[in-house]
Amino acid sequence: MKVDDFQQFMVKVKNKSGIDLSQYKENQMKRRLTSLRDRRGFTCFESYFASMEKDQALFDEFLERMTINVTQFFRNMPQWSILEKELPKLLAGKTRIKAWSAACSTGEEPYSLAMLLMNMPSLQGIDIVATDLDENALRKAREASYTVESMKELPASYKTKYFHKESTHYKLAQEVKNNVTFKRHNLLSDPYERDVDLIICRNVMIYFTEETKKEIYQRFADALRPGGLLFVGNTEQIFQPKEFGLQLKRSFFYTKE
Ligand SMILES: C[S@@+](CC[C@H](N)C(=O)[O-])C[C@H]1O[C@@H](n2cnc3c(N)ncnc32)[C@H](O)[C@@H]1O
Repeated sequence: MKVDDFQQFMVKVKNKSGIDLSQYKENQMKRRLTSLRDRRGFTCFESYFASMEKDQALFDEFLERMTINVTQFFRNMPQWSILEKELPKLLAGKTRIKAWSAACSTGEEPYSLAMLLMNMPSLQGIDIVATDLDENALRKAREASYTVESMKELPASYKTKYFHKESTHYKLAQEVKNNVTFKRHNLLSDPYERDVDLIICRNVMIYFTEETKKEIYQRFADALRPGGLLFVGNTEQIFQPKEFGLQLKRSFFYTKE
């Protein structure tokens, strides 16, 4: 195997798809992709990529492996309870909310937010933009048909009110879906939203290099309106929030100064 086999692979992937693997933690990413490559019977990344060029299914499988779509409704419920308590303060004097669920995977996160917001009588307009790099995940998100696995933390009242069972799956009600717009978006290269009241970005920063994380936190801070809230994942505390004009509000919640 050539020494720079993986480096060259990263360049080719970037040219083909715009995805810059060098901004992800290298050891983790390389380990994950090497095991997939080996399983498919390739001994180097050069031959693996050459086959991916000819075989779309192989490329899609690579994308699926690198993106890691694990998610669920109200993932880490205690944090969502904190969000619920913070919302009236965030929305004081407002009748509309603009929220962004960044790296939303198959939709459980933005739909959890939609259900929470639909419970707030003062809100007349709910505008949630939900984005992800992975088109396949977004397709599932738009379908909004889920298995019980992703519904373990979903409160029973929401399950009864907003889902109906069709054989093995639970279909989400249209009135919840209407509040969410899904779009493909690469956090590393696409323009960010503006004037956002609330950004939820959870369980994706862990995969990025420290330098990339800093860039993204700054861009999130720029995307928020003053007083806006950033909600991060359980292992994703920001160590120097002031650096980005953010202030720690509660664990895993930051406001824009
Ligand atoms: C583990 S899921 C997190 C889903 C949800 N936020 C949660 O916490 O349950 C990580 C998601 O990040 C997405 N992702 C990875 N790299 C990305 C990038 N550069 N831009 C946008 N999304 C990305 C993946 O496609 C995947 O759906």
